[in-house]
Amino acid sequence: MTTTSNVLDRAKTIVTDKVQATIPVDRQVQAAHAVKKAKRRAGLETPLAFTEAPIPNPADVPLAEIDVSNPFMNRQGKWYPYFARLREEAPVHYLADSPFGPFWSITRYEDIQAVDSNPEVFSAEPYIVLGTPPMPAEMFIAMDPPKHDVQRKSVQSVVAPRNLKEMEGLIRERVQEVLDGLPTDEPFDWVERVSIEITGRMLATLLDYPYERRRELTRWSDAMGGSAEATGGTTHLDDLFTAGVELARSFTALWHDKAARRAAGEPDGFDLITLMQTSEDTKDLIKKPMEFIGNLALLIIGGNDTTRNSMTGGVFALNQYPDQFEKLKADPSLIPNMVSEIIRWQTPLAYMRRVAKEDVHFGGQFIRKGDVVVMWYASGNRDESKFENADALIIDRKNARNHMSFGFGVHRCMGNRLAEMQLRILWEELLERFDRIDVVGEPTYVQSNFVKGYEKMMVQLTPKA
Ligand code: HEM
Repeated sequence: MTTTSNVLDRAKTIVTDKVQATIPVDRQVQAAHAVKKAKRRAGLETPLAFTEAPIPNPADVPLAEIDVSNPFMNRQGKWYPYFARLREEAPVHYLADSPFGPFWSITRYEDIQAVDSNPEVFSAEPYIVLGTPPMPAEMFIAMDPPKHDVQRKSVQSVVAPRNLKEMEGLIRERVQEVLDGLPTDEPFDWVERVSIEITGRMLATLLDYPYERRRELTRWSDAMGGSAEATGGTTHLDDLFTAGVELARSFTALWHDKAARRAAGEPDGFDLITLMQTSEDTKDLIKKPMEFIGNLALLIIGGNDTTRNSMTGGVFALNQYPDQFEKLKADPSLIPNMVSEIIRWQTPLAYMRRVAKEDVHFGGQFIRKGDVVVMWYASGNRDESKFENADALIIDRKNARNHMSFGFGVHRCMGNRLAEMQLRILWEELLERFDRIDVVGEPTYVQSNFVKGYEKMMVQLTPKA
């Protein structure tokens, strides 16, 4: 029987949903954009900008002045020599002044593991990059327990083993399509044609996002992760906020569309939005738009650069160590171990940032409450005390799986199995088709102190005879 209160409840829900669909979070993002621009116009805030200059050799820089946050370190091949010096001479290193403010660098494997495993002392709030992201977003990667745990739990079933099994066939088909469309008679850009394309397809699958619009996901993710203020990148403020507004609008519409289709009897899929709508904890998440958008953005950003650059990094590394490619062809059962080794060697995200919640003695240093502490995974993964001959790619390395590219503890990467599956499928399908994948020319690198990635890498394929 329909009661007045039921009718009122339904009416209220419809009105709330309507409001969310029309005024909602995109307006909040637009407002934040307007405030930011006004502050800049009034001179209350100076935008950061970086100009590339040659970086000296680490031995020529006083220890106290070493700044590994320079966004050109990777591009100039300088990060690893600098990290080697810090691990040796100052494994818990303080830089008093940088464009991102003062910060501690943790560079040894064991120390990084200790910091990452101690959220009681080292907080992931308010954000996990060195600088200050110009656009606010609520993401559980930058929340401490218990709030973090509740939010993570509500979305993690999207990458649960059963769900990954469901997705594997579709992901494989999509990888096959990409590889079968590649030219074999001329060089092409691997980043654009393979890494970005496959990652975009995977994200569209995960979110059940309109397939033909998958490049939007890549564009938003690139824009949101790449500002000068946050990571030393190149994204213009307007592009960043435009991406935020578009993302907010598209995902709000997707949520409502999905709800309508389910209400009309469409069977539930295994995508993220369906999982959110069918889970007790998140079925009303749309009513907390900043959290809803923040967590979707996290999945897109988390899954985008990382997997993409592992796809490019693997090909690049095997070109640097051709004997390893021969080893792989002779024994394709090495693929799963090689995937871990590629992720170690590449370390797609160079670090995560923490803030000390209390004064703490650590590694012979005194870290004060409020100090910024950066865990340099890129350095820990090259720590010789953990990985013998650490700079080399060794596809049958015994402890490759102990790499720290996925972090540790409560924030350990939620998408790690999905990323590994994606890379395994890629390499299985590549070995089926190609005898050689030659990198022809130096790759170009992303300007960032966070994403260790490639802009462009030209390759020439040789099909199997
Ligand atoms: C967290 C790396 C792929 C989603 C993280 C963290 C790292 C990381 C370093 C933070 C760990 C910490 O703070 O201790 C990587 C790498 C990847 C990858 C190297 C690929 C090779 C993915 C994919 C997805 C994803 C494919 C999802 C589609 C997430 C999420 C978090 C996270 C949601 C936050 C977890 C939390 O705070 O509890 N990832 N990631 N990642 N990653 Fe990944």
